[in-house]
Amino acid sequence: MRRRDFLNAALTGSVTIIAGANSHTRQSRMADANIEIMIDEPIGIISREIYGHFVEHLGGVVYDGIWVGEHSKVPNIGGIRQALVEAMKKIQPGVVRWPGGCFADSYNWRDGIGPRNQRPRRTNFWVDAREWPKNPPDGPWKFDTNQFGTDDFLRFCKLINAEPYLAVNLRSLTARDFYEWVEYCNSPPGSTTLAEMRGAAGSRDPYKVRYWGVGNESWGCGGNFTPEEYAAEYRRFSEWVPRYGMNLSYIGSGPNGGDLSWSRRFFARLAERGGFGRMWGWGLHHYSWNVYSWRTSDWFEGKGDALNFPVEEWYELLNEADRMETLITNHWAVMGEFDRQHRIKLVVDEWGSWYKPGSEVHPSHLLGQQATMRDALLAGLSLDTFHRHAEKVAMANIAQLVNCLQSLFLAYEDKFILTPTYHVFDMYSSHQGGESLRVHFSSPRVSYTRKNGNQATIRGLSGSASKIDRQLTLTVTNPDLTRTCETVISLRSAAVKEVKVTTLSAGDMHAHNSFDNPHNIEPKEGKAMLRNDGTVTINFAPASVTKLQMTLS
Ligand code: AHR
Repeated sequence: MRRRDFLNAALTGSVTIIAGANSHTRQSRMADANIEIMIDEPIGIISREIYGHFVEHLGGVVYDGIWVGEHSKVPNIGGIRQALVEAMKKIQPGVVRWPGGCFADSYNWRDGIGPRNQRPRRTNFWVDAREWPKNPPDGPWKFDTNQFGTDDFLRFCKLINAEPYLAVNLRSLTARDFYEWVEYCNSPPGSTTLAEMRGAAGSRDPYKVRYWGVGNESWGCGGNFTPEEYAAEYRRFSEWVPRYGMNLSYIGSGPNGGDLSWSRRFFARLAERGGFGRMWGWGLHHYSWNVYSWRTSDWFEGKGDALNFPVEEWYELLNEADRMETLITNHWAVMGEFDRQHRIKLVVDEWGSWYKPGSEVHPSHLLGQQATMRDALLAGLSLDTFHRHAEKVAMANIAQLVNCLQSLFLAYEDKFILTPTYHVFDMYSSHQGGESLRVHFSSPRVSYTRKNGNQATIRGLSGSASKIDRQLTLTVTNPDLTRTCETVISLRSAAVKEVKVTTLSAGDMHAHNSFDNPHNIEPKEGKAMLRNDGTVTINFAPASVTKLQMTLS
């Protein structure tokens, strides 16, 4: 079954400083790999929104994950899980997308406002999904109680200091419902009946929501449209929406992975009438799921297990994630055929790993999965890719925040842990707002053997660098499961004065955090050698994610 068919079915259904005498050239020859950072070749500013998240009313994401209720024994801030708020604040989230995903195109925002005890219960989009774990209990993940609505989500964003990004229902509501949602969120205090309702809910002042997604996966669960049909819908929804003195940033429902024709046909149709309907971003979704692409493209057959997997699946999944670079450059090229100035940027509003069911921490957690060091590598590799394309990628949202696909947290009742993916977001947050720099990696590819006996390879070291004033951040992933990679790092037209290293690694590729062992994987201080010629030598551990914070002399 293809992914699109699945979604249609779901619709119904420290530092050691060693002064050495060696010249950089000699070091380069001796090392396994070299990294050269081009200080004078800036790419673009790494937007905060690349550090974005995604929250859908799906399984245990909202109910249990975020919303525990005001009367819960779980410590909460007005019903919102307190531990989650504290952990999120630490990693400086740029933006959070809500309420879906596929759920968004079946959601009526009016159901989630007003007094909680008067809100209706509605059938959740995911009620008949094929991926439910065995014996899921009934609950809001099947019949949404609407206890968590617009005001609750926007309060969550405020608590964690993130911009909200609302996904609009284009399949089953009207353009009027969309602009009235904008009115509810953004109209001036007391100006309209909806502004008064918002005031009654506790927010007299407008929320000033800037990011609006016009539909979701409109090629599949969001209406099964052709690109031309969607272009007409996009135009109808996005015209004449009240702005209340703000620049609203619309995000179009873009392609599924490599479907270049979706992008091309959409922009061709939109361009026919001139202009791009105030579009700010073009959504791109890419999940890493198929660990057996050489033998199948079936949405269910191709998936592997989150925890118990062979060496081959480690590399195959990371290779899938590494496709992101090509997806970005290809769709960007297509967009440029129509939008020559590249006014519209890419928004990778769903990305991450997707495994088969079985590792979820509770049967109510549809699409819930555990996360190992492999997911940490995937997160680092993907964030580095976004940085390397900072002039193209304006936002990215990992799917999804808690208890779901590639989550930063797992939670059940009062149990709450951070996954390895969380630690990567924490380590990488020093890139935010930095100027992304061109970096040259020269590192051997890593070979592995597929089940059919064939040899395959994956890129060796990769990463990204950014600079804020005299502070440089370099992040590097080493996917090699067995080899430590001795590497010389040099800066073109600059030298390093100080270096601090943080590493996330584990001896076992299956290592993960659990409720019983929550601190199994955590970042540790690492070592590097700073040479008196201003270069740095470091050993990248097998299967590791590393951050070097360097002060320029
Ligand atoms: O993240 C889970 C689902 O994957 C989203 O609802 C949908 O947009 C995508 O297909």
